[in-house]
Amino acid sequence: MFDIKIFENLTLEEKYQSMLSALRGLVDNSDSQTAKLANSSALINALVGRLNWCGFYLDNKKELELGPFQGMPACTKIPYDKGVCGKCYSTKKTIRVDDVNAFPGHIACDVASNSELVIPIIVGEKCVGLLDMDSAELSRFTQLEEKYLKEAVKLIEKYVF
Ligand code: SME
Repeated sequence: MFDIKIFENLTLEEKYQSMLSALRGLVDNSDSQTAKLANSSALINALVGRLNWCGFYLDNKKELELGPFQGMPACTKIPYDKGVCGKCYSTKKTIRVDDVNAFPGHIACDVASNSELVIPIIVGEKCVGLLDMDSAELSRFTQLEEKYLKEAVKLIEKYVF
């Protein structure tokens, strides 16, 4: 059973440390990759807060394909060189966009999105997918949150792929 209340009244740093412990519990087990990614997207969506979309795109060897997520229905396929996700995939770098409307080539899956953070999932030298988070707020993501969310992706790299 999961009780979101245990994350109330914590400082931002305490909240993210607790999120990392909870995430480790969700991924360090024998569940399927789909189950682990689905639970990871649910946990991150609930704890980060003020998100309108949170989920995974995975490399299917032809393009990026929609994986487990929370939010409105989204584009199922993204070419490697398109959008914020394609830029993250092709550069293997985290992309934080304060205003998606000012990002050339941004793909608007949900018109409510105004800022976005995309973190690559790297296994060996290869980008195997990415964690994508959208918010209706401009400049939603701080550098500190980016740091913790990259640590979350490190757990996913280690235990899910
Ligand atoms: N905005 C992304 C597309 C994926 S959705 O945000 C879920 C992009 O530009 O690649």
